Order: sequence, then structure tokens, then C-alpha cells
Amino acid sequence: MSKILLFGKRGQLGWELNQTLAPLGELFAFDSSELDLTDLAQLRQAIRRVAPQFIVNAAAYTDVDRAETEVDLAQKINANAPRVMAEEARELNAAFVHYSTDYVFDGKKNSAYAETDATNPLNAYGQSKLDGEQAVAQVGGAALVLRTSWVYSLRGNGFVPKVLAWARTQKTLRVVADQIGSPTWARALAEIVAPLLQRDGGYLRERAGLYHLGGLGGVSRFDFAREILRLDPRADEQIIERLEPALTAEFPTPAQRPLHSALDCSRFEETFNLQLPAWQDALRQALGA
Ligand SMILES: NC(=O)c1ccc[n+]([C@@H]2O[C@H](COP(=O)([O-])OP(=O)(O)OC[C@H]3O[C@@H](n4cnc5c(N)ncnc54)[C@H](OP(=O)(O)O)[C@@H]3O)[C@@H](O)[C@H]2O)c1
Repeated sequence: MSKILLFGKRGQLGWELNQTLAPLGELFAFDSSELDLTDLAQLRQAIRRVAPQFIVNAAAYTDVDRAETEVDLAQKINANAPRVMAEEARELNAAFVHYSTDYVFDGKKNSAYAETDATNPLNAYGQSKLDGEQAVAQVGGAALVLRTSWVYSLRGNGFVPKVLAWARTQKTLRVVADQIGSPTWARALAEIVAPLLQRDGGYLRERAGLYHLGGLGGVSRFDFAREILRLDPRADEQIIERLEPALTAEFPTPAQRPLHSALDCSRFEETFNLQLPAWQDALRQALGA
């Protein structure tokens, strides 16, 4: 039975991975209270103690606005810790699955981004994640870096639960219509790596590298919100009367975000013969509609 080591088990993606990966092997999963990824010595020790065949890193510093003022902390968690994971994975001959973000792009391409497109992060979070990708690539070994986008879960306080809650408390909701991305259901994202972890290390080693992996298709935040409201299985609880399009410029935030960051996921599909569902299908399933 292979040993799998998971970081970030309380996050949107990590929580789903914790469920999905459990039947696949002996799963060792950590949250930040059990292992703080800023402590690199402790991180190395934990990896050596478990000596896994697979390391999956769903932990990250993900507060995009706060990262503007906590640059060093974001860098430690998003770049230094993944470098150590990649180094230890290489020593153990283990496969390493790491996640990155569409925010490595500046969003000016106006069509879906491929892995070969130039990066140019607009904010400190995106820069720290890009540094993490590059650190993992430099170390080498059997590492998959999966760039994903607009990850959502029905748990917690992300975009989908917020829209559902706002629709029950507000008559008018304004949502930005000029940000386009690929909404990605955390459960679908977790489930798609399961078959990869059932292959031998050689299979992943031959396919090591950078892949885009998001819900298929692109959509604006406004149209995403409209679909959430339409598919809400308890729509009778909604009091909302108007959903209005807004501009990103109307909601100033400390961190600038890319306007168009949908991902072209064909490299992943062709390499692994797997694909995530279209974002609308995943949303329907997530909402149980
Ligand atoms: N959310 C998005 O829209 C999005 C978009 C593109 C890419 N991504 C990437 O996808 C991956 C998963 O994102 P997510 O949305 O699931 O993130 P999330 O819900 O914010 O979860 C991140 C987890 O990282 C853990 N973490 C943070 N600092 C830590 C530390 N010092 N030590 C140990 N653990 C720490 C937290 O653990 P505790 O809860 O235990 O504190 C948290 O549960 C990340 O790599 C992220 O960059 C996300």
C-alpha cells in the first residue's frame, strides 16, 4: 500500500483531497496547526518520517489582497515550502503534485492561456506562486505542477456560498462582468488526480511538468453568479430581484487581478486522457441541481 502525504487538508481543495485520497493508500494529512510550512526544518523532518511515495501539496498562502503586505510570508509558504517538498520528494524517489494559479498571468491575452504563454503576475500572491512553480521545476524529479483557477467549494466562505447567501439577504447584487476565468470545483479537481496516484512513479516521472487544469470553458464572474442563482436548488429562499453587471474598477482592492485568465487545459487532457467537466456541469453537480 503506498503512502501519501497531503498538506493543506483543511483548505477547499485539501479537504476534498483528504476524502478522495484516503482509500488509495496510507494517507498522512496535515493542517497548519499540525505542521507550519514556514518551518522548513520541521517540514523536511515530517516528510522524512513518513517517507511517502506521493506528496500532494494543497496548502498555500491564498489571501490575495493581504499578500501585498505579507510578501515574505506568502513567499515562504508558496515558494520556499514547495521547493523543500520537491527536494525531499526527489530524494525519496516520490512523485510530487503541487498546485499553482492563473494569477501568474496578467490577463491581457483575451483568450485562454496555454502553458507556453508568458507569465507576468500582477500581484504579490501571483509572484509567490510563480516563484514556487519555478523552484519545483528547478529541483526536477517526478513533479506535476497543476495551475488551476477560480477554485470553489460549497464549504467555507468562497464565491459560491457568498452568492447564495447574498441572494437571501439582498434585493440587488452587483458582480463584476469584466473578469473572465475558469471556475473549478474543488471536488472535481481532487478527484481527477486520484487515477494519477494509482499509476507507478515511472508513469508520472515521464510526464512531469507544468499543466493547466481548470473547469472547462471561460465565464465572467457576473455570468458565473447568474448560473449559481439559476441552479440554486433552494431558489425559493432567494429574495434577490436584480443581478447587475459591474466593473472591476468599481471595487478597488489592494491587489490587482488579471481580467482574463481562463485556462486552456488541452495539454493535461492529451497527456493523461482525462478532463475536468465543463464548468456549468460541475456547478450543477456541486449544487446538487
Ligand atoms: N482558491 C482559488 O480560487 C485558487 C485559484 C487558483 C489556484 N489556487 C491554488 O489551489 C491550491 C488550493 O487552493 P484552496 O482554494 O484550496 O486554498 P485554501 O482553501 O485557502 O486552503 C489553503 C490551505 O493552506 C493552508 N496553509 C496556509 N498557510 C499555511 C502554513 N503556514 N502551514 C501549513 N498550511 C498552511 C491552510 O491551512 P489551515 O486551514 O490548516 O490553516 C489552508 O487550509 C493552492 O495552491 C492555491 O494557490 C486556488
